[in-house]
Amino acid sequence: MRTTSAAPAAATVGIVGGGPAGLLLARLLHRSGIDSVVLESRDRAYVEQRQRAGILEQGTADTLRGCGAGERLDREGLVHHGIRLHYDRRSHRVDFPSLTGGRSVLVYAQTEVVKDLIALQLSGGGPLLFGARALAVEGADTGRPVIRYAHRGREHTLACDYVVGCDGFHGITRDAVPAAARRTYERGYPYSWLGVLAEAPPSCDELVYAHSERGFALFSMRSPTVSRLYLQVPNGTDPADWPDDRIWDELDARYATEDGRQPARGPITAKSVLPMRSVVTEPMRYGRVLLAGDAAHIVPPTGAKGLNLAASDVTELAGAFAHLKGTGSTRKLDAWSDSCLRRVWRAEHFSYSMTTALHTEPGQSAFDTRLQIARLDRLAASPHAAAELAENYTGLP
Ligand code: APR
Ligand code: PHB
Repeated sequence: MRTTSAAPAAATVGIVGGGPAGLLLARLLHRSGIDSVVLESRDRAYVEQRQRAGILEQGTADTLRGCGAGERLDREGLVHHGIRLHYDRRSHRVDFPSLTGGRSVLVYAQTEVVKDLIALQLSGGGPLLFGARALAVEGADTGRPVIRYAHRGREHTLACDYVVGCDGFHGITRDAVPAAARRTYERGYPYSWLGVLAEAPPSCDELVYAHSERGFALFSMRSPTVSRLYLQVPNGTDPADWPDDRIWDELDARYATEDGRQPARGPITAKSVLPMRSVVTEPMRYGRVLLAGDAAHIVPPTGAKGLNLAASDVTELAGAFAHLKGTGSTRKLDAWSDSCLRRVWRAEHFSYSMTTALHTEPGQSAFDTRLQIARLDRLAASPHAAAELAENYTGLP
């Protein structure tokens, strides 16, 4: 396995962040013969174990297959043809193929996507530096932007033709865009998610999204023996206030349907609280600095769009760089930000809709709860309403 000890000083594309966006971009560029350097501030173990979402749209899975990261995905990934909605003690299944002309999704954890992409990059891609923290991106409006970064106790600069910020919501690349040149749209939510990993078989063979006046719950999975579970909790919740029994009791209460089935229990191996937010930064490009994935946009996880949006951003961006390399034309690069933002805002609306339909706000009126039930009844009764959910969930063209 090739590791990179030297600190590179130049690259065609400098990538800040070695999460899904940065790693996939580097892989796609490599396939087009375009050199890049990935700078990741954390160590490999941290990045590979960071619990995130686990739903891949077909397009995302196809992109991963196309860049050589599909072997384990196809061996271990779980193909899902629908989801369940639990509400008002009822259970309703939304079937994807019949509503979308044959589309489905793949359940395959982001941790596994990241492991696969790191292995590929280290075995045959360009430099991927762990423990390399970008300090600043300078010269965005020049022909040669640079990334100043710290690595192994020393400061270095990486001179690039282009810099792509794939450094997530807390990254620094966004700061390379002057405040006057960018606009941020955001919306908060009066609740968070308590995310739990449990050695317990999933309660159902498909994901269950549960609306309850006690709050939302999501029953997902990582394998036939490992469940990934989420509970809506108040903002500022401390995971330590949720011992295992309390978690299981609350999951039972929110899963509740007429048939009385309850999730199987087992040891909880991880728990953490994640905030809910919707954020979009426009534009996603300034000069020769571009922002992709969470560095440019955040969605509440209800619609499972975060990873898929990041993959769409960098797939289109890699195509634009390949077009530039092949033709000398920046036409696709110049159109990239607007093209991504149309997709991003669609996903923002879908994620917002799923979130507000299924979560119960603190102090929510009985009237608003009845509106939610009416909205969910519409999804259960109308293939037209259900198709809107199914098309967005499985990924629009
Ligand atoms: N220098 C180098 N690396 C950095 C810096 C920095 N200054 N700041 C952040 N990073 C790294 C983080 O350590 C992280 O590994 O950038 C990476 C950003 O990865 P993500 O936050 O996962 O964002 P992205 O690659 O866009 O993937 C989006 O991840 O957060 C989830 O829900 C989100 O599923 C979506 C996906
Ligand atoms: C997950 O499996 O982590 C997951 C699945 C679907 C979502 C969010 C998270 O909407």
